[in-house]
Amino acid sequence: MKILVTGGTGYIGSHTTIELIRAGHTVEILDNLFNSKIEVLGKIKQITGVEPKFHKVDLLDYDKTLEVMRGTTFDAVIHFAGMKAVGESVEKPLTYYENNIQGTINLLKAMKITGVHKIVFSSSATVYGDKGDKSGELVETMMTGVGITNPYGWTKAMIEQILRDVATSDSDFSATILRYFNPVGADKSGLLGEDPNGIPNNLMPIVMKVYRGEIPELTIYGDDYKTKDGSCERDFIHVTDLAKGHLAALEHMEMGVQVYNLGTGKATSVFEIIRAFEEISGKELPKKIGARRPGDLAVVCADSSLASEKLGWKTNLTFEDAIKDTLNYLKNVS
Ligand code: UD1
Repeated sequence: MKILVTGGTGYIGSHTTIELIRAGHTVEILDNLFNSKIEVLGKIKQITGVEPKFHKVDLLDYDKTLEVMRGTTFDAVIHFAGMKAVGESVEKPLTYYENNIQGTINLLKAMKITGVHKIVFSSSATVYGDKGDKSGELVETMMTGVGITNPYGWTKAMIEQILRDVATSDSDFSATILRYFNPVGADKSGLLGEDPNGIPNNLMPIVMKVYRGEIPELTIYGDDYKTKDGSCERDFIHVTDLAKGHLAALEHMEMGVQVYNLGTGKATSVFEIIRAFEEISGKELPKKIGARRPGDLAVVCADSSLASEKLGWKTNLTFEDAIKDTLNYLKNVS
């Protein structure tokens, strides 16, 4: 298939591009390089032998987006492009709504005009909101959009709704919504990993910076949750497993809208992740216990049985593999 990957130089987008190329698909990337680097293209070439055609285009530029879509007959779009920093989205809600929502609307309009009917959308477990005491595994049939704590999360929930509405209006349209849990790790080659511009927000990129001495100390946001050890629990999924989930989704597209969780189904605590990182790296990280981070949930874990039944997809890698691959990547970039 010929696939347009928006946000294809980003963390999950680039790993997915690699898996698409490995599976024999032709990929073109559309990205504004807002939070990624052009060097990623060369890394993709080193890993796969193929450098995808690249369009430095912002989805807010409708005319250029349409031009890209007119240039090739795409079979499907995988849509990653968007802003994703939770804290920043609280400070700049309009920027987030404009980029994520208007960007998606432009893409969908360009798809309609050029006759591209299939889209795989990068959503997030954040759309489940706060389930209160009913913690446990999250299932696709659960209600979404209640108790979302930040504009970033709202943009994901709103885009899901936009896709449903477009599907209702157009019987040729198919969308597969993938709700990611916590992606970690790096490609096995050590050439590609998570490399956000600026100060990272998520646990693993922060741990990487503390390990390298670029951040003096790690703060664990709360040790008084009602969890196995007091720290939050998350479903950490290796980015390569996640990337392969996109491939499976693409190969099993159905009419209308399908929704799948992509996670491991195993909750791992923040303390467990840090301990494993220290054991595998052989280095103790400077750390302290801090206050809870506003908006954090005690436990977030996937029930991914639907993806396994309908897409024939399951995770093969562990968070320990992710830590090893992350360290391997760090060795190569330093
Ligand atoms: C967050 C977002 C999620 C988004 C994801 C990827 C929320 C509530 N969560 O997930 O929507 O899809 O990022 O961008 O909106 N932690 C520390 N110290 C740190 C950093 C993190 O203890 O310095 C802890 C957090 O409290 C949390 C866990 O590590 O319990 C994971 O945090 P993070 O990597 O930011 O991901 P989430 O908050 O789960």
